[in-house]
Amino acid sequence: MKTISTRWAALSGGMMVVLAGLTLPTMGASATPAVTTTLAAKVALPPVALAHGGSGSKRKLQKDGTDAAAAKALAVVKAGGTALEGALAGTVVLEDDPRFNAGTGSNIRMDGKTIQMDAACMDGTTGAFGAVAAIERVKNPVLVARQVMDTPHIFIVGDGATRFARAMGHADFYPESPQAHARYEKVKRILNGKEMGDASEAWKRFNWQKAWNFTTGLKEALGSPDTVGCVARDKQGNYAAGISTGGTTITLYGRVGDVPIYGAGIFAGPKGSVACTGEGEVIVKHLVAKSVYDLMAGGMAPQTAVNRAIKAFPVEFDLGIIAISDKGEGGGCNYGESKVYTENMAWSIAR
Ligand code: GLY
Repeated sequence: MKTISTRWAALSGGMMVVLAGLTLPTMGASATPAVTTTLAAKVALPPVALAHGGSGSKRKLQKDGTDAAAAKALAVVKAGGTALEGALAGTVVLEDDPRFNAGTGSNIRMDGKTIQMDAACMDGTTGAFGAVAAIERVKNPVLVARQVMDTPHIFIVGDGATRFARAMGHADFYPESPQAHARYEKVKRILNGKEMGDASEAWKRFNWQKAWNFTTGLKEALGSPDTVGCVARDKQGNYAAGISTGGTTITLYGRVGDVPIYGAGIFAGPKGSVACTGEGEVIVKHLVAKSVYDLMAGGMAPQTAVNRAIKAFPVEFDLGIIAISDKGEGGGCNYGESKVYTENMAWSIAR
């Protein structure tokens, strides 16, 4: 049998943190063991695609969107496209659906007009990674991230990313949507204290967020539509991941989360691929996607790895994950009341 060695074999171990039994590499560390796989093992597996609509997305109301994204990704790989092409196609479907916080539906930042987006993609067979951050005025940031892959760089940010997109032929597009405006207005009302019926000096001095005692949690009241993502396996058994976001609900100019950070928001290797959603700053610190990948590369089934990562994550922060490997598929999110993680996010599998 022909053995495929990948660049993973060259990576060495790094600093680790351990949370509730889950070993998570810290940022900048790489703990991937040497990994080899074989062509014979890869071709036996059928194509598959998963898509998620972000932590805070509603399974009942938005699953039709993630169904469409997963179906599109699967159609691409079934037609002979690569896993990367499939993952990108699925991510684009979600970027073009204004109900999701990415591309056309991206959040509006605190000034009420700025829209900045992050996106990334990764090819699990070649190890190629491309990302953009704080990019503005493009329709499909994940396709710009794909083009970054073809440069000597892996990550382009801000105005440089926007100008790179223009150079690559992406038209000027202000991704303004009624859904994002409605989210912005709601956040503004809550932050101004209007929803509590008082905006006196006393309220301004009072830490009402800490004292929030409604049955609807503060996060839910503010709304938490987050990152979208897609993972796919092609006919050759290659894996890839795509991810895209308009940032968190309350976001300063220039803020960047987990999405474009290598190993944080997505990871793909010869053994599988992973896409995350949730509180970017915390996901980065725990390199969640890479941690879940490592568990799967060690032989753990994806749903078990997803559950373990979610349980190990600080409970006060959102985390959602989708993952595939040669052992199956898994997904879930800690956002919401149910402890059944698979029920707490719109996400779909297409086989
Ligand atoms: N997970 C998306 C973000 O924090 O930007």
